[in-house]
Amino acid sequence: MTRFRSTPLRLSVVLIAVFTVFISVGLGIAYVIMHQALGAEIALRADQTIEEIRAIPETEERLERAGEIAAAADTRALLIRLELDGETIANIGGDLPEGIVGDDDIDLPEPVADSYLVRHTDLEPGRLTVAVGRDSVSELQETFVAILGFALLPALMLTSAIGIVVVRRTTARVEAIRSTLHELSEGTLAARVGAPHPDTDFGDISRDLDRMAEAQEAAVGALRQIGADIAHDLKTPIQRVAVRLERLGESDLPEPARQHLDQASTETAQIIATFQSLLQIAQLEGGQGREAFTSVDLGALLEDMAEIYGPSAEDAGATLTCSVSGPFPVSGDRHLLSRLVANLIENALRHAPGTEIALSLTGRMLTVRDGGPGIPAGQRDYVLRRLARLEASRSTPGSGLGLALVKAIADLHGAELTLGDAQPGLLVTVTFPG
Ligand SMILES: Nc1ncnc2c1ncn2[C@@H]1O[C@H](COP(=O)(O)OP(=O)(O)O)[C@@H](O)[C@H]1O
Ligand SMILES: [Mg+2]
Repeated sequence: MTRFRSTPLRLSVVLIAVFTVFISVGLGIAYVIMHQALGAEIALRADQTIEEIRAIPETEERLERAGEIAAAADTRALLIRLELDGETIANIGGDLPEGIVGDDDIDLPEPVADSYLVRHTDLEPGRLTVAVGRDSVSELQETFVAILGFALLPALMLTSAIGIVVVRRTTARVEAIRSTLHELSEGTLAARVGAPHPDTDFGDISRDLDRMAEAQEAAVGALRQIGADIAHDLKTPIQRVAVRLERLGESDLPEPARQHLDQASTETAQIIATFQSLLQIAQLEGGQGREAFTSVDLGALLEDMAEIYGPSAEDAGATLTCSVSGPFPVSGDRHLLSRLVANLIENALRHAPGTEIALSLTGRMLTVRDGGPGIPAGQRDYVLRRLARLEASRSTPGSGLGLALVKAIADLHGAELTLGDAQPGLLVTVTFPG
């Protein structure tokens, strides 16, 4: 029931519920009070008629007065029957039970009320029956049903309709902001809400959010640029140093000096490789390389890589297996895709030594699995960053750029990279777009 998490929806439902309860209780109380007042008035009318007849002392006059009343009365409003001394004056025949009586029990050809309040009184030597019509009570009910039907229901339907429209609108705007925040936090720094409703509070929030995203994107871009600039500016002098060291190696050197020279050459080669990787990652992140895409069969590429790395895996005491479900052509850069697979195999050889390394391609899903220590779930985002290495790997050679390059290549190809648990070991999955 995630929809009910929506604040506008909750507010609307609560408001409509409060409105309904308030009106219903108000109408209910009004109905009860008016119903009681009408009941009391009807009872009073019956008592007054009875008292009027009872107050007359003479039997003759009583009969005469009852006759007048019966003749004048509308049978809808008043029924009377007086039996005195063997004589009967009545506009109604038969015997009626005491209390409220429905129209079915009234046997009259004239128009009849929906119900009557019937009172009996013994008048020596006889009996007086008075029934007062209760049409006013039925009318009251009809009036309240009409109020409900013509006022409350349409009002409820209208408020619900307005509520639905408001909820839809605000939900859509909240959703636009929420999904933009989600994209930004996932690293899509180009995500923006856009503000199609400039004069609302949502418009203000959207604009502020977009401005913040703009600033963040610019800051991250500037940082990247600095990194690339440093790598670029230092690469050339370091390359010159490497050339000088090489020249130095060509001359005659005493043994300790040669050892130092070899170490210095290895270090400079490592630094150059790091700078090259940093620059390459920056270029890939900038989208460079897509123009050179051709159709590459991932199946054949994976089999080639298995063949190339087979001997070195064997030398390192590991086994390398490859299973390919069939050819799968993708639009990409063969060289970069080979680099991606190579980096994953090299990582498995380096960080999961002596285990079985399994390459596989199932449909558009490429996986590399090893049987080593794996990467803890909490570190899987971290290791994709530039220069990130886990504590346990500090003593192994490498600069922490392998997975960052894998990520940049996957992104360039629109593929999704996930690190998972092979239990034990690392399971890297690269899912290419269908
Ligand atoms: N197959 C693996 N098994 C265990 N840990 C790994 C594996 N691959 C990578 N890692 C961890 O992720 C870190 C980053 O990998 P990477 O970017 O390739 O850098 P590098 O290999 O140069 O250290 C490694 O230092 C290591 O700690
Ligand atoms: Mg590596």
